[in-house]
Amino acid sequence: MSSGPQPTLAAASDVAAVELTRVAVAFGAHQVLTEVSLRVAAGVRLGLIGPAAAGKSLLLKVIAGLCAPDAGTVAVLGQEVTGKREAELGPLRQRIGMLFQNPALFDFLTVAGNVAFPLEQRGGHSPEQLAALVAERLRAVGLAGSEARWPAQLSGGMKKRVGIARASIARPELLLYDEPTAGLDPVTSRKIFDLLDADQRATGATLITASSDVVALLGFVDVIAFLHGGVIRHLGPVAELAAATDPELARFLAGTLDAAAPPHAAPPHAAPPHATPPAPPAEPSA
Ligand SMILES: Nc1ncnc2c1ncn2[C@@H]1O[C@H](COP(=O)(O)OP(=O)(O)OP(=O)(O)O)[C@@H](O)[C@H]1O
Ligand SMILES: [Mg+2]
Repeated sequence: MSSGPQPTLAAASDVAAVELTRVAVAFGAHQVLTEVSLRVAAGVRLGLIGPAAAGKSLLLKVIAGLCAPDAGTVAVLGQEVTGKREAELGPLRQRIGMLFQNPALFDFLTVAGNVAFPLEQRGGHSPEQLAALVAERLRAVGLAGSEARWPAQLSGGMKKRVGIARASIARPELLLYDEPTAGLDPVTSRKIFDLLDADQRATGATLITASSDVVALLGFVDVIAFLHGGVIRHLGPVAELAAATDPELARFLAGTLDAAAPPHAAPPHAAPPHATPPAPPAEPSA
C-alpha cells in the first residue's frame, strides 16, 4: 500500500477534527479497512461514499471510538482515541453526535426520552428546558408532537428522524451521520439534508456523512471521500469530482462498479494532499 502523503483537508480552520493514520480493521480473515489515512479539518462537511460493504459504517464507528482498529492511530477533536479505555472516552463521546445506520433507539424510552438522552447524560437542564429543546428538534425533523410515542410505534424513516434529533440535540462539535436519509421518501430526504445544512451553518460543527444517496449528498457536502478496497481512493472538493482520475470512482458514480471484484490499484495521485473545500461565506458586516 502506498505510504505517500496523507489525504489532508485544509479549511478555514486548520485544526484537525479527525485524524486517522494508517487505520486497519479486519474481522477474522476479512480485511475491511486496509490502510485508511484521513485528516478532516474542523468545520468541514465531508461526504463518505463507496460501494455496499466498503466499510463506511465501520469507519464512522472507528472515528466515534466504538471500534478499536487493529493498527494505526485515531485522533478526534484533538484527543488520541487509540488505546483508550471505555471510561476514558466518556468526555470525548459527549462532544460527538452519531446517527447509526440502524438508528438504535432505546425501546424502553419514549421519543422524548430518546431525544433528550444526550442532554440528560450531561445534566444541567431543567425538565422545562429539556422539553423545549426536544420539541424544537422534533419540529426540525418533521415529527412535532411525537414526544409520547414509543419507538415500536414508528416507521423506519421516523426512527431515523428521531435518531437525527437525538444525535444533534446537544450541538456536538463532531457529527457522524450514517445514511441519514435511508428509507425516507425524496421530499423528506431533501428536508433532512436541508436541516443538516442549516444546523451545520449554525454550529460550525464538523460533519461526516456516509450516504448511498450520492446525488443528494453532493448537493450538501464540501468534500467527498471515496472508500473502496479498504482505502480512501479519492478525497477532494465536490466541484472537482467530475475531473477525478480514479477509474473506479468514475465507475462507482456511473453505477457500474462491481464491488465484488478486486479493486484496481489506486492511481498515484488519487488523493490530493491538500484538497480545499469552498471558502465559507463571508461574515455579514455589522
Ligand atoms: N462486527 C462485525 N463483525 C464482522 N464483520 C463486520 C462487522 N462489522 C462490519 N463487518 C463487515 O465489514 C464490512 C463493512 O461493513 P460496513 O457496514 O461498514 O459497510 P458499509 O460500507 O457501511 O455498507 P452499506 O453501504 O451496506 O451500509 C462488511 O463486509 C461487514 O460484514
Ligand atoms: Mg453502512
